[in-house]
Amino acid sequence: MTAPGPAHEEEVLGKAYDARLVRRMLPYVAPQARWIALSVTLMFVVIGAQLLQPYLIKLLFDVFIPRADRAGIAALALVYIAATTVELLARYGQLYSMELTGQNVILHLRDRLFRHLNALDSSFFDRHPVGRLMTRVTTDIESLADLFSSGVVSLLGDSVKLIAIVVILWWLNWRLACVTFAMTPFLFLLSVLLRGRIRRSYRDVRRRIARINAYLQESISGMLLVQLFRRGEVNRREFDAINSEHRDAELRSVVYESSFSAIIELVGNVAIALIVWYGGREMVRGVLTFGTLVAFLNYTSRFFGPIQDLSGFYAVLQAAMASLERIFALLDERPTITSNPLPAALPERARGRIDFEDVRFAYRDGEEVLHGIGVRVEPGEKIAIVGATGSGKTTLIKLLIRLYDPTSGAIRLDGRDIRTLPLPWLRRQVGVVQQDHFLFTGTIASNIAFGRPDLPRERIEVAARLVHADRFVRGLPKGYDEEVRERGNNLSVGQKQLLSFARALAYDPAVLVLDEATSSVDTETEILIQDALRLLLEGRTSIVIAHRLSTIVGADRILVFHHGRIVEEGTHRALLQARGIYHRLYQLQFGLETETSGPLPLAAPEIST
Ligand SMILES: Nc1ncnc2c1ncn2[C@@H]1O[C@H](COP(=O)(O)OP(=O)(O)OP(=O)(O)O)[C@@H](O)[C@H]1O
Ligand SMILES: [Mg+2]
Repeated sequence: MTAPGPAHEEEVLGKAYDARLVRRMLPYVAPQARWIALSVTLMFVVIGAQLLQPYLIKLLFDVFIPRADRAGIAALALVYIAATTVELLARYGQLYSMELTGQNVILHLRDRLFRHLNALDSSFFDRHPVGRLMTRVTTDIESLADLFSSGVVSLLGDSVKLIAIVVILWWLNWRLACVTFAMTPFLFLLSVLLRGRIRRSYRDVRRRIARINAYLQESISGMLLVQLFRRGEVNRREFDAINSEHRDAELRSVVYESSFSAIIELVGNVAIALIVWYGGREMVRGVLTFGTLVAFLNYTSRFFGPIQDLSGFYAVLQAAMASLERIFALLDERPTITSNPLPAALPERARGRIDFEDVRFAYRDGEEVLHGIGVRVEPGEKIAIVGATGSGKTTLIKLLIRLYDPTSGAIRLDGRDIRTLPLPWLRRQVGVVQQDHFLFTGTIASNIAFGRPDLPRERIEVAARLVHADRFVRGLPKGYDEEVRERGNNLSVGQKQLLSFARALAYDPAVLVLDEATSSVDTETEILIQDALRLLLEGRTSIVIAHRLSTIVGADRILVFHHGRIVEEGTHRALLQARGIYHRLYQLQFGLETETSGPLPLAAPEIST
């Protein structure tokens, strides 16, 4: 069981039954009570019809044949057909209602989980890798499905069936019954032992599949780099190793699995042989009828299946409990950033004054990223933020839209602390164009209307036209209905940027924040983007984390970030004259001779960072 490397929480198995978890599960199961009742009822019908069949055979040999009762034999055959038909129909209904119960429970739980994930804030996602969360919503929930399909009802069914068979065997002939029962502890022990091995080998296989997936994911998404740096050969060898490990694990599990069924079958056959030997002698002695012997053999062969299933139930239960534990732990996570009810006097649209008051922030305790940012942005003002990579620019923006809350200090919008505002209202006022232009699966149009799904088509197209995205969109085979594939892989960086501008314009926020991407685009697109930007920033407060000279120069005020502090502040001209950090940054980034008294550059040169 001990795995090399760090223990994965996916592999921790605990108790097989935990009353607390089961109680929490009840609200999801209770609405299915009717289906569960139906399933249990049908289960009894199945067992009854099933166990009637060997008895009918006994009647044939012991009663009807000796009496040469032809009509009785015909009737018996009909009853036999009826019994199997009833069994078949009832089994169908039973499996269906059980599966329906399980799937309904899972549907609600998964729904609940997804809604819950949507309500959690960024700091939660910093702490929890995406892969783990995916596992919660997929695999963990799957193992609950197992609990229903091969769990609870089969546990009940198998137990009832076992008890019924024991009673019937005992009633038919108790001495012969003892022969069958003698095999039971042996079989149960073997099952438990082998099941443990099988379970471990399955886990091995799963772990290796996860490794293959992770490796594939990384190499395929980084294929460009792999090919550029000719890492292909190394990667192939690494993959080969992982791949063969997987084959070996898979083979091991097949070996265990097939030895398991072979051994169980062997034990069953030994029991049959013992009954043939002992029962045959009893028949010769005349103390056992032929019909009883045949019925006995038949019941005995039905006896070992449930034992086999029961031995596996513990594992199913254990896995389900472990999954439940993790699922509920996730549901117990509370968002730290909460919305407030709408204050009475909140206008439809904010004026757009923003105050950062001594804002301090740390992603992790003790590692402060922002050390007391204090600045006021007036309504309609255009602010540019510049600074080295990692200086905390994006972080400040995240605080403004409350992806995180400051550790101390406050941010105000129109004089109101943003923590007292309803989140949807705040995020309606502050539009953000992110550094990496994230597009969602859907069409071009639905991506532009992302924040406002009710936006009419006309407005979408107007927004696109204004930011010059219109031209390339029309060039696409399906225009605005073109599908966006895999986060926009089928679009260029510049095109994605224009689209996210169109999205922001359609959203029409009072405050626009733009985290410019550093990547440069061709001169023609650059001119389009500049023009789009000018239009986008018009008539609203704007904060642009700027890499483009044109944006920087055009700003009313520039804030220079350095290691989480604002170290310089002023207009382009004033900052250049001060010959401080901005001056140095400017020279480094744009490689221009700065003649502070000379004319300012009009067009932005190609920027490379
Ligand atoms: N989710 C996070 N968890 C922990 N630390 C983070 C996280 N995001 C950013 N940081 C750290 O915070 C600091 C500031 O990051 P930030 O993204 O604000 O920089 P930036 O100024 O926007 O840089 P760039 O110009 O490269 O975009 C960096 O040191 C970074 O490592
Ligand atoms: Mg950034």
